[in-house]
Amino acid sequence: MIEKKTAPIGVFDSGVGGLSVLKALGQVMPGENFIYVGDTARAPYGSRPEQEIRAFAAEIINYLAQQKVKLVVVACNTSTILGIDSFRGNNTFPIIGMSMGAEELLQITKNKKIGVFATLVTAKSQAHKNAVLALDPQAEVFTEACPEFVPLVEQNDYADPRLQQAVELHARPLKTAAVDTLLLGCTHYPFMEKAIKEAWEGKINIVDPAEATALKVRTYLEENKLLQTEGAGSVKICCTADPERVRRLGACMLDVEQCKFEQISLK
Ligand code: DGL
Repeated sequence: MIEKKTAPIGVFDSGVGGLSVLKALGQVMPGENFIYVGDTARAPYGSRPEQEIRAFAAEIINYLAQQKVKLVVVACNTSTILGIDSFRGNNTFPIIGMSMGAEELLQITKNKKIGVFATLVTAKSQAHKNAVLALDPQAEVFTEACPEFVPLVEQNDYADPRLQQAVELHARPLKTAAVDTLLLGCTHYPFMEKAIKEAWEGKINIVDPAEATALKVRTYLEENKLLQTEGAGSVKICCTADPERVRRLGACMLDVEQCKFEQISLK
C-alpha cells in the first residue's frame, strides 16, 4: 500500500473514550483528515478475554485499511497493552499505540508516588508501572483497576452518584499510599476528570497520556514527510452503534458540528 500525505489517519477505541485522544490529535495536527472508529456496540473491552479484544482490534484495523489510511492510532490503552503486532494482520501501515506517560509522570511527581487508574486488562499487565520503573527504579507505582468507570462514561452518567462513589472507592487506596500524581490509564477517564479531581479535593496532579501520544504521531509523520499541513482537515466518526449517543458524548471533546457521524458494521 502506498502511504500518501493526503490520506486520512485512522483512530480507534472500544467506544467514545478515544475521542479524548482525537481531540489532542486534532490540536497538534489541524490539517489532517481523521477517521475515528468507536466500537460502541461491543464496549467495554477492558474486562473481556484478551483474545476477544485482539480479534475486535484486528477487525477495526482491517476496516481502516479499506479506508486507505496512512497510519492508525490505537486510542485505547487496553488494546495497546495487548501488543499492536498481535492484531496488525497483514497491514503494513504504521500503527501507534497510547503513550505510557512515564516521562511526564516522573517530571511532575514530587514524592515519586504515582497512581494509575486503568481497566482490568491494563491494570493486570502493570505496563504503566513497568514503564515508570524502567526510567526510575526509586519510584513507587500503585495501580487500581476500575471496571465500573467505562460503562458509566458510555452511559453519560456523570450526574449519577454511582460515578462519584466508584471514583471515591478507587481513590481510597491511592490516597492511603499518598500518591501525588495520577495517570489516566484509559482513554475514557478524561471524560470524568471532574469527578476524579473532586475525590482528591483538587490536590492531585493528573496526567492524560493523550497529548504525548498525539506528539508521537506528529513526530512520526514529520520525520517521514507525511504530515499534512495545508487545509482545514476533517473528522469522520464511525461507530458500530448509537451515533446519536456518540455525538452527544463527543460534544465535550470536539466541535461535533464540524464532524460527520456514521453507523458502520465491521463484519
Ligand atoms: N478506552 C479504552 C482504554 O483506554 C478501553 C476501555 C474499555 O472499553 O474498557 O483502555
